[in-house]
Amino acid sequence: MSFHPVSTPNTDSPPSASASLTVPGCFEKKRRGEKLVCLTAYDYAFARLADESGVDIVLVGDSLGMVMAGRENTLAVSMRESLTCVRWARRGIQRALLVADMPYGSYHLGRRQAVANALRLVRAGAAAVKLEGGARRAPLVRALVEAEIPVMAHIGLTPQSLLAMGGYHVQGREPAAAIELQEDARALAAAGAFALVLEGMPRELAGRITRQLSIPTIGIGAGPECDGQILVLHDLLNLSFSPPAKFVRRFGDAAALSRAAIADYAGEVRAGSFPDDAESYHAPVPARQVISRA
Ligand code: KIV
Repeated sequence: MSFHPVSTPNTDSPPSASASLTVPGCFEKKRRGEKLVCLTAYDYAFARLADESGVDIVLVGDSLGMVMAGRENTLAVSMRESLTCVRWARRGIQRALLVADMPYGSYHLGRRQAVANALRLVRAGAAAVKLEGGARRAPLVRALVEAEIPVMAHIGLTPQSLLAMGGYHVQGREPAAAIELQEDARALAAAGAFALVLEGMPRELAGRITRQLSIPTIGIGAGPECDGQILVLHDLLNLSFSPPAKFVRRFGDAAALSRAAIADYAGEVRAGSFPDDAESYHAPVPARQVISRA
């Protein structure tokens, strides 16, 4: 941490037009066969690191309730928490597309409530919102799109359906369930969703859905045929304190790095070797001494 002010724009406002990935840019990437790299982030520092590392889409996921707040599931995430994280992440992003998850209960009471809450997320800095659910959400997606709010849809294993599903289970393994998911995907695309998250489903099904749609699919636990992939940042960095799901690959070990650095710090404080003289401020040399040296 330095004493210098952070030199990024103070944006509580929507992203600038110069953000380099736009909603139409996502279609273009699919057309060109380029993979979309998506990652969650919930604060300034990690959003900035993701953005600087070339991530295309940063999602302020409602996974924040688990990885940031330490809850068991995502159900208690509030609009207030989401808005705070969107504002923090927004300040770290120059070029990625920032998508905000709509928390459980923030769009379940009807179109008016959904549009009002989505507008709050856009005003906080999101360029699009994400919501969970299949064909029954199509009218809501249409209402949001009519309000000029781009929507990323999310089907398959939808964590907000935890109570209804009775746990986190892979979806679409049976033929009838697979057909239903394909119909969900088509209905959401027809309603105007600009992208579709496919979570926790057989790769063969995700591949079929991906080939059938002109909008990009973004997979998590849905195999490599999707147009893009997303992971929860804390899973990728081994910061989630739980055994990883089958689909998670740990690309780094920030937990080990952090524990080692904190243990070093504690050791040096206890030994009296931190801070040393170079890390200390000094009183000004008294004027008399300066004169006598001259
Ligand atoms: O909340 C979240 O992080 C998500 C992604 C994992 C897709 O919904």
